[in-house]
Amino acid sequence: MKHFNTRDGALFAEGVALENIAATYGTPTFVYSRAALEEAHAGYAAALAGRDTMLCYAVKSNSNLAILNVFARLGTGFDIVSGGELARVVAAGGDPGRVVFSGVGKTRDEMRAALEHGIYCFNVESEPELYRLAEVAGSLGKRAPIALRVNPDVDPKTHPYISTGLKCNKFGVPISGAHALYLAAAKLPQLEIRGIACHIGSQLLDPAPVAEAAAKVVALAEALNRDGIELRHLDLGGGLGIRYDDEEVPATRDYLAPLLKVLAGRKERLLLEPGRSLVGNAGVLLSRVEYLKRGEDRNFAIIDAAMNDLARPALYDAWHRIAEVRPRGSVERYDVVGPVCESGDFLGRARDLALGQEDLVAIFSAGAYGMTMSSNYNTRARAAEVMVDGGQCHLIRERERISDLYAGEHLLP
Ligand code: LLP
Repeated sequence: MKHFNTRDGALFAEGVALENIAATYGTPTFVYSRAALEEAHAGYAAALAGRDTMLCYAVKSNSNLAILNVFARLGTGFDIVSGGELARVVAAGGDPGRVVFSGVGKTRDEMRAALEHGIYCFNVESEPELYRLAEVAGSLGKRAPIALRVNPDVDPKTHPYISTGLKCNKFGVPISGAHALYLAAAKLPQLEIRGIACHIGSQLLDPAPVAEAAAKVVALAEALNRDGIELRHLDLGGGLGIRYDDEEVPATRDYLAPLLKVLAGRKERLLLEPGRSLVGNAGVLLSRVEYLKRGEDRNFAIIDAAMNDLARPALYDAWHRIAEVRPRGSVERYDVVGPVCESGDFLGRARDLALGQEDLVAIFSAGAYGMTMSSNYNTRARAAEVMVDGGQCHLIRERERISDLYAGEHLLP
C-alpha cells in the first residue's frame, strides 16, 4: 500500500493530501491511486510474460468508467456478469472482443446485446442456458462463442459466501457432466466452442486449490481433444487475495507459479479474471468523524461513511484497516460505526485511534467491492469517487444528489 502514505504527519494518496481531497470533494469519498492500479497490473504482466494470456479484469470489483479505462489502456479484457457491465465496458472504451461473460442468470436481452457487440466468449453456467444461447444466436443469424464454466468441486478455503467452486454452490456445471454437455454443444451449429472456464472463489491466499482445479480442467481438455474438440483457451478465473490485515498474501508470481506448472506445455491461451487483486488495495474510503460518543460499555466514533458505502464489514464481518488521516490527542478504543439505523452498521470494532471530533479517517483496502456493492439504504446518496495520478486529483464520479434518489418515483394520481 505504498501509494497511500504519511507525509508531514498526515495521509496522502500519491502526491495529494487526503485533507485536500476532503476539502474539495467532501466526504465520504472513495480515493483511488492510478499508480497502485498500474503496479498491480504490472505484477500480472510480469508473472505471465512469455505466455499467451488474456487478463480479463472482473468488472464487478470496481466498475467506475475511469478504472475500466485505465485497464483498457493497459490492454486488458474484461470479465462481466451483466448487460450493465457490458455497457460500462463499451462506454469506457474497452474492447468487447476481449470480454468474457460469466453469470448464472443471463437473460435473452443480455445475450443479444453481447452477441451484437461481438464479445469474445460466453461462460455458460447450465444446460438450459446453453440451449437458450443457441436459440438467441440462431435468431440473430450469429454463432455464439462459448466455454462451459465447470464446477471442479475444490475447496478454495475462503469465506463461505465467496466460495464458488464447491458442489453446493450455484455456479457452473458439475465437471463430471461437462464432457457430455460439450459433445451436445458441438452438435449445435449456432455455438462455437472456444474454451473451458472455472472460478473457485475469492480472497484466496493458498495457490494449491487453484492448481488443483487447473489439473481437473486440463484433464477435461485432454478428454475433449480425444473427441476431436479443440479449445482456444482455458480460463482459470480470478480469486487472488489481498492483504487487509496481516494475512500472508503470496506475490502474484508465486500465486500463479503452481497453476502455470500444471499448464506447462499446453497450447491453449490462458485467461484469468482477477478483480480484487487489481483494485482492492488501490483505494481507500475517506470519511469524517461526526461524533465521538462515550458509552458505558464502549466508545463509538460515528463517521459519515456507513454500511451502505462499504458493505463488507456488515455482510462478511470483514476487517478493514482504519487510520486517522492526521492523528490527534490520545489514543482511545472505538467502535467505528456509521449513521445507518442497524446495529450491523459498523466499519470496524475495537480500534485504537487518536481522534478528535470532525477529524478524517481512511478505511483501507476499499478499492474492490466497495463502491460496486454500495446502496442507497436510509436514503443516503452514494459517495463521490476520485482518482489520484501523481500530484493530480480527478473527480471520476460525482457524489449523488438526494433528488437523484427519487427522480424515478411517482405519486399516485
Ligand atoms: N470471475 C468470476 C466468475 C467471479 O465470480 C469473480 C468474483 C471474479 C472472477 C473475481 O474474483 P476476485 O479476483 O475479485 O477474487 N463481494 C465479495 C467478493 C465476491 C466475489 C464474486 N466473484 C467480497 O467483497 O469479498
